[in-house]
Amino acid sequence: MLEKIWWKEEVIYQIYPKSFYDSNCDGVGDLKGIIEKLDYLEELGVTSLWICPIFKSPMIDNGYDISDYVGIHEEFGSMEDLDVLVQKCKEKNMKILLDLVVNHTSHEHEWFKKALENPKGEFGDYYIFKEGKDGKVPNNWRSIFGGSVWEPVPNFENLYYFHTFHKGQPDLNWENPKLRREIYDMINWWLDKGIGGFRIDSITFIKKDLDFLDSPVDGGDGLSSVKHKARNRPGIEEFLFELNRETFEKYECVTVGEAPGVPYEQYDQYIGEGGYFNMIFDFKYADIDVENGSEWFRRTNWKSEQFKERIFKSQEVFEETGWGANFLENHDQPRSVSKFIRDEKYRNHIGAKALAALFFFLKGTPFIYQGQELGMENFTRKSIDEFDDVSSIDNFHRSMLEGYSEAEALNFVNQRSRDNGRTPMHWDSSKFSGFTKGDKTWLGLADCKEINVADQLEDKESVFNFYKKMIKLRQNSEYSEKLIYGKFERIETEEDLIAYKRGENIVSITNLGSSKGEVEITVKDILLNNYETLEIKEERIVLEPYQTILVTKGE
Ligand code: GLC
Ligand code: CA
Repeated sequence: MLEKIWWKEEVIYQIYPKSFYDSNCDGVGDLKGIIEKLDYLEELGVTSLWICPIFKSPMIDNGYDISDYVGIHEEFGSMEDLDVLVQKCKEKNMKILLDLVVNHTSHEHEWFKKALENPKGEFGDYYIFKEGKDGKVPNNWRSIFGGSVWEPVPNFENLYYFHTFHKGQPDLNWENPKLRREIYDMINWWLDKGIGGFRIDSITFIKKDLDFLDSPVDGGDGLSSVKHKARNRPGIEEFLFELNRETFEKYECVTVGEAPGVPYEQYDQYIGEGGYFNMIFDFKYADIDVENGSEWFRRTNWKSEQFKERIFKSQEVFEETGWGANFLENHDQPRSVSKFIRDEKYRNHIGAKALAALFFFLKGTPFIYQGQELGMENFTRKSIDEFDDVSSIDNFHRSMLEGYSEAEALNFVNQRSRDNGRTPMHWDSSKFSGFTKGDKTWLGLADCKEINVADQLEDKESVFNFYKKMIKLRQNSEYSEKLIYGKFERIETEEDLIAYKRGENIVSITNLGSSKGEVEITVKDILLNNYETLEIKEERIVLEPYQTILVTKGE
């Protein structure tokens, strides 16, 4: 796919609004806080912002439980604040992507309240209700956040509603054309308002197997993951095709699908010619530390070789089928330095830069998650009570059900918790890292004075300035064309080295190991290096532990 188009040329920065910047001292980040920090984002060089949900919500899942699709959550500000943000971004040539959560609403959405009053009525058909079986829930499916997907309907005997995620996130019934129309109208309302596009949440869950039959038990809780019968199931293509046709296709917007569970053979339908989305995230290498990408107690002992193979395979599939959305971190993932740098000695600016350059020059649109550009790390907590994230609490209890001790369970959660990436952003070395001037924060943060924006802006060798350089190389240099559109090609190397080519002569090489590694190459220019020097031996180079370089190749 050689077609040139604007969204391939973006660098997208992901904002978790609750934790970005608190402008009014209540301990919660907000839209005005984002507006105050736009100059910082411009300085970094990113061209678009993806903002996690800012809509009205009881915040059980931090906004992924929406009670009003066209209202702004009060703690975040007002519609007027959003309009100002969009306008200010326009002046800086930045686009705003919002988060589109249409697999489910909050249990506090008006539709659901009406549905509960009368499950057989009009709004009852907006959600999924079923009668129990032999005095029990309708089937054995386990929700993503633990426990049954079925929740009893108050005041109705033997009746349940369906939720893929938390019970405060009832699933919408996509089989109902009237519901689908409401969703399309809402999407178009936002696009007419002038936003740049959407990141689309959990979209592969919208089609369920309508037999609602039990599936084989796959856990100590006697349940079976909802994924078997409700993720990327046959028939979903009709919904996704229609969704695109009725909304996105009519606009000049960008769509990025969160589409877990799609096998590579189907990428073409998702992102190929006439596909449902412009790009999707591939989680296969991000989730290398856990089996199936979900249950945190099923840890793997991964090797660099496997990590490399997953990245390369993913690149090759994207190149064949469409375009990828590359990322190291997001609000559901641990910090990448803590996850991928296994030698603690290098869990610092060296490791952070190595990962940065490894991922950033892959073919696709790069996504940077807030704080990643500083090399922020996981925040290890001493007790389960310190966690906010619903899935952390579930994984803690699930781990013990699977026979692990409390200490082991806490360790799994610390390694994988979504709260790792959700701690407030570090702006400076003052109290609460400058996130708020108030006397509290909605979520605790590590006492880490060294990693912060103010210091890194000053330090030429900081992770921040490394990101800035990378962005400049990709966006605005004589190498831009190749770094954006150049063909991806794998280079075979020894196990811990990951090397690839972009275009005819740009090469990225990263050493993910604790010992030196050699590569056969004649280097012409060094465009980027996270060490001060590079050891060159005739037609070979020697990389230090966790060294990364971007070079052009000589003859
Ligand atoms: C997506 C979001 C996650 C959320 C879930 C349910 O995976 O990224 O944060 O909890 O969907 O909406
Ligand atoms: Ca605030």
